[in-house]
Parts: sequence; structure tokens; C-alpha cells
Amino acid sequence: MIEARRVSGALGAEITGVDLSRPLSQAAFAELKRLWLEHLVVFFRGQALTPAQFMAFAEQFGEPVEYPLVKGLDDFPKIIEVRKLEHERIAFGGIWHTDTAYLERPPMASMLVAREVPPFGGDTLFANMYLSFDSLSIALKTLLESLRAVNTSTKADASKTREDAIKVSGKQARDYVAEHPVVRTHPETGRKALYVNSGHTVRFAGWTEEESAPLLKYLYEVQTRPEFTCRFSWQPGSIALWDNRCAQHNAVNDYHGYRRVMHRITLAGDVPA
Ligand code: SIN
Repeated sequence: MIEARRVSGALGAEITGVDLSRPLSQAAFAELKRLWLEHLVVFFRGQALTPAQFMAFAEQFGEPVEYPLVKGLDDFPKIIEVRKLEHERIAFGGIWHTDTAYLERPPMASMLVAREVPPFGGDTLFANMYLSFDSLSIALKTLLESLRAVNTSTKADASKTREDAIKVSGKQARDYVAEHPVVRTHPETGRKALYVNSGHTVRFAGWTEEESAPLLKYLYEVQTRPEFTCRFSWQPGSIALWDNRCAQHNAVNDYHGYRRVMHRITLAGDVPA
């Protein structure tokens, strides 16, 4: 029987009672989807899926797509390895962000399976973008709903977190830029969520970077208030599946000298509206 245990007041639930190495029944899939939409990120333990099983699980949820900046595995180009080795100092994704918001159609969801984890640390933080939007005053909500924001793949802090991954398996990629609404309506739940992030957003459309900076800084602070977040501690075989339309994440880089290896799949999304 599928059961969900919430991991924080804001978002995130650990799911038990399902074996992801086998195709899900229609009822099991429907229940997982319902729980995922409710909790924004769901976690599973002890699911050491092979790349083929991981891909098969992903395909039940959506359409896997290639990550634009890093090459995938030889046999599975839509699975990338998120890896930090003993001598490396940079953690891929070690900044608050929603995945590839610089694409015209950013991914609906992403999933990670842990292959090797450090003896401590290396957790991932998640934040609920519905709650941060809901917490704002009506006046600020009204202003934000009238704005769009410019997102790029070249913002320095986010680019830094990909340096090692790109050195090892970077793709010949161009710089990406996309403009999206600052507040998006989730196409499945109908709820409104903040859709700017410190990893990729550079300014509001029609505003200069200088004019945008104070308000963006305020929004980043609200988005990551502890009461809007959860934290997941990995074990080999743990899986996280998160909704990029209403959640952000941040890989905590606190395990220098140890190795952490994950496999990651992203699922195609729609144009934010
Ligand atoms: C990512 O941003 O996809 C990486 C997250 C992680 O490694 O925990």
C-alpha cells in the first residue's frame, strides 16, 4: 500500500509501499502523481534502479529530455551524471534554482537517484514557491503578476556550479535566454507560484539589472525562508522527484574530500503562463 510521510510543514513527502523497478499499475501511478502534485517533491528509499529501470520509471511520468549543457551517459544520453569527486570543490546545482529556467520550455520535473553518497552532508534543500507567493502582500502580488523576468544560462554563480561537470562532459552549447512570467500558474493544480530564481534570473523585462536587483533580492530571501523549505538526506538508492513549476532546490556543498554521484533525468515541460 502506497503511503506518504511528510518531511516538513512546507513540502516534501517520503513515499513507501512501491517498487519503482517495475512498471506501475494505473492506480499506483495515479496515486503517486496525486501525492507528487500535493507535496511538490517526493522521495523514495532503497530503489537502486539500473539506468534502464530509472529511464522506464521516468517515462511513466513524462517525456525525458536532454540536459542542454552536459552530455549524458553513453547508453542513456538523457541521463546525466551529477558528480563531485574527492578532489573537487564545486557541487553541480549548489545554488537555489529551478532547472533550466533559461529555456523557452523549462522542464516540468527532474529526478535524481543516488549512486554514491558521502559519509555526511551532500543533502538537497527544496523550497515551496506557492507558499512564498502566498505570503506576499496583495499589493506586491499584483505588481509581480504584471511582470515578466529574463532568465539566462550564463549567470556567474550558477555557471560556477557547473564548471567541473562541463570540464568533464560539457556539450558544445550556446548561451540560452528566456523570458517568463514572474508568477506562473501551475497547469495541473491551478495554484500560483513565484517563478524567479537566484541561479538564472537577471532582471525584470523592461527594467535594468540595477532597478531589478533590490526586489529580486527580497524575493530570493522570501523564497528560501526556512519555513518554506525541506531538506533531504540521501542514501544509495534514494530517489527524489520534484516539480520545477512550483519548487526550487539547492545541492548543499558541505562534504569536501568525499565523493557523491547521482543520476539525473529531466522531463519536458510547457511554456510557463
Ligand atoms: C541539481 O541541481 O539537479 C543537483 C541537485 C543535487 O545534486 O542534489
